[in-house]
Amino acid sequence: MNYENILIEIENNIATVTVNRPTKLNALNKETIDDLHKAFKNLGKNKEVKVIVLTGSGEKAFVAGADIAEFSNFSIEKGTELAAEGQEKLFDFIENLKTPVIAAVNGFALGGGLELAMACHFRVASDNAKMGLPEVSLGLIPGYGGTQRLPQLVGKGRAMEMIMTAGMISADEAYRAGLVNHVVPQAELLDFCYGIAQRIMKNSPAAIGKAIKAVNANFKEGKNGYETEIKAFGKCFGTNDFKEGTAAFLEKRKPSFTGK
Ligand code: COA
Repeated sequence: MNYENILIEIENNIATVTVNRPTKLNALNKETIDDLHKAFKNLGKNKEVKVIVLTGSGEKAFVAGADIAEFSNFSIEKGTELAAEGQEKLFDFIENLKTPVIAAVNGFALGGGLELAMACHFRVASDNAKMGLPEVSLGLIPGYGGTQRLPQLVGKGRAMEMIMTAGMISADEAYRAGLVNHVVPQAELLDFCYGIAQRIMKNSPAAIGKAIKAVNANFKEGKNGYETEIKAFGKCFGTNDFKEGTAAFLEKRKPSFTGK
């Protein structure tokens, strides 16, 4: 499948998705959101793909936000629709994907760009990365889940300050706040993420998908995370991966998981 605004490479069971609008610092316009939606939908179904790494093209930006030029003349209705559609198609979609998604934050991750990184299951940043939610400087608020996911990751007080000041934080500050799990030199960013992906891929894809669902349930209104965990835990006992994982342990050999 060909995409206009993103690149996809699959190697060693790892898919790298690169947002590719470098002249606009990879800002998310409608086409890019559509491309990303289709790509994640397809990659999520591709059994060959065990981990997805999401990054931005060039050395300057991961994603510098939603495309400001695109929505500058929107009405209340169109603005509401923009946020609703984007959240459903991309941000919530990534968060709920059963395949692990790592954000490789290679530069500016601002507004929708930071929201995109936060929708991924976890984040690794290059040392030049800068992160922030500058929406209030434009007379807006974050609309792709930023008011919800930032407090989940860094706590309410830090999130309030970042949102109200519209300021940027460095990769090291983001690490200290728990927004990113690791900070590495830019040239090593993708390899570092692939190293984590290799460790993930040793484990059961069926179990990982269920673990993602159970962790996410804690943050969903009307869901009881403990109950979700109990059900997902129980379902593991019906999988081939569980039979293989326990048999391999008892037989003192490495497991060979199929994800079923
Ligand atoms: N939407 C649309 N275009 C964007 C963009 C965005 N969010 N972010 C950057 N661009 C475009 C710029 O308009 C510029 O295009 P041009 O060359 O056609 O004029 C190009 O990308 C390069 O950006 P520029 O601002 O010249 O780079 P810089 O190094 O001076 O500044 C930033 C980098 C990230 C600080 C600056 O681009 C910025 O503040 N971007 C907007 C961030 C933002 O508010 N995002 C939240 C949106 S809700």
